[in-house]
Amino acid sequence: MWKCERVIGADLDVEEVLGVYRASTLAERRPVGDVERFTRMLAGANLVVVARAEDGRLIGIARSITDGAYSTYLGDLAVDVAFQGQGVGRELIRVTREAAPEAKLVLLAAPAAVDYYPHVGFTRHESAWTMDRLQ
Ligand SMILES: CC(C)(COP(=O)(O)OP(=O)(O)OC[C@H]1O[C@@H](n2cnc3c(N)ncnc32)[C@H](O)[C@@H]1OP(=O)(O)O)[C@@H](O)C(=O)NCCC(=O)NCCS
Repeated sequence: MWKCERVIGADLDVEEVLGVYRASTLAERRPVGDVERFTRMLAGANLVVVARAEDGRLIGIARSITDGAYSTYLGDLAVDVAFQGQGVGRELIRVTREAAPEAKLVLLAAPAAVDYYPHVGFTRHESAWTMDRLQ
């Protein structure tokens, strides 16, 4: 069996986390080749939930930024393909929501997950907007 718990992002082993991004396929859409930037992504996320297998192996992660009161941005959700379809993603989302129960959860779905989010309770927002990075 596996279990999910909230952790401090900066305390995680970056290489181990990169492993789960690769094993989930999310690495294709994240700057995993820039370890310094990826390390900042982990340290800057103030609501990180991980899933570990019985042997302690990292098998999933939910990396979010929250104000703890109104909104939580779920930046990344990734589950090792060998453990997908077992409820790990659903549990990572549940623990994330429980950490800031008053906050609305917001995210941008990767193409592979557009059908996943409505399946686990998310509602599509017709007036979501983004602005490209400065550099
Ligand atoms: C999307 C992802 C996080 C889902 O994690 P998971 O642990 O496999 O999901 P769960 O087991 O909690 O699935 C819950 C339900 O959603 C369904 N589901 C899983 N992946 C799905 C998908 N891509 N599309 C539609 N439904 C999906 C499951 O069958 C399950 O259905 P059920 O409750 O009726 O049995 C995982 O597939 C993943 O890491 N994908 C690659 C990375 C990615 O695209 N991440 C999203 C970035 S925005």
